[in-house]
Amino acid sequence: MTQPLDDQALDTLFRKARTHNGWVEETLPEQVFRDIYDLMKWGPTSANISPARFVWVASPEGKARLAELAMPSNGEKIKKAPVTVIIGTDMDFPEHIPELFPHNPGAKDWFQDPAFRESAGFRNGTLQGAYLMIAARSLGYQCGPMSGFDNAAVDKAFFGGTNVKSNFICSIGHGTDENLFERLPRLTFEAANQVV
Ligand SMILES: Cc1cc2nc3c(=O)[nH]c(=O)nc-3n(C[C@H](O)[C@H](O)[C@H](O)COP(=O)(O)O)c2cc1C
Repeated sequence: MTQPLDDQALDTLFRKARTHNGWVEETLPEQVFRDIYDLMKWGPTSANISPARFVWVASPEGKARLAELAMPSNGEKIKKAPVTVIIGTDMDFPEHIPELFPHNPGAKDWFQDPAFRESAGFRNGTLQGAYLMIAARSLGYQCGPMSGFDNAAVDKAFFGGTNVKSNFICSIGHGTDENLFERLPRLTFEAANQVV
């Protein structure tokens, strides 16, 4: 039986975890990106398709390139964050099914319909983006997710020659209180849930 996490862990992951806009100036080693990936990869996806692809934009040149393609306010944050991850969805994800679902390689054919392939890819890739944020928080980092950028331009600049489509981006590092907004309310259980 697994045990529930303690209060400190729940605060770290959810209750006190915030969306950060300011960052401690630091360089994060690639090992940190690997550690976050090696946790998040265990989050479930349908038929284990694992469609998300990640670009860790950590160099000054990469940050400048990404910042230019984002809303100005987001661009400033990208330049200051130690790293901003582009979370993309590989719409050619079925190619990996024989490797990822070896007991049923024919599952590749379940995704032949382009509309179904796209919705399955987007759904599962988005979930993996959320797993990435929880993994980063679990390892003591904070996140700043953003969708205010030019997706088509980012696809061209960072995913050229592939069928990967950008979903959202997420800065990661040690967050500061700079420009931290007041915590916004959330819907009550009554407003957002039904028990049937
Ligand atoms: C997918 C996604 C896209 C977002 N896009 C932006 C954005 O473009 N710019 C921005 O300043 N904040 C953006 N946010 C931040 C949200 O406004 C913020 O996470 C939300 O208000 C909750 O804040 P909290 O985590 O501090 O409670 C985005 C968040 C998510 C999850």
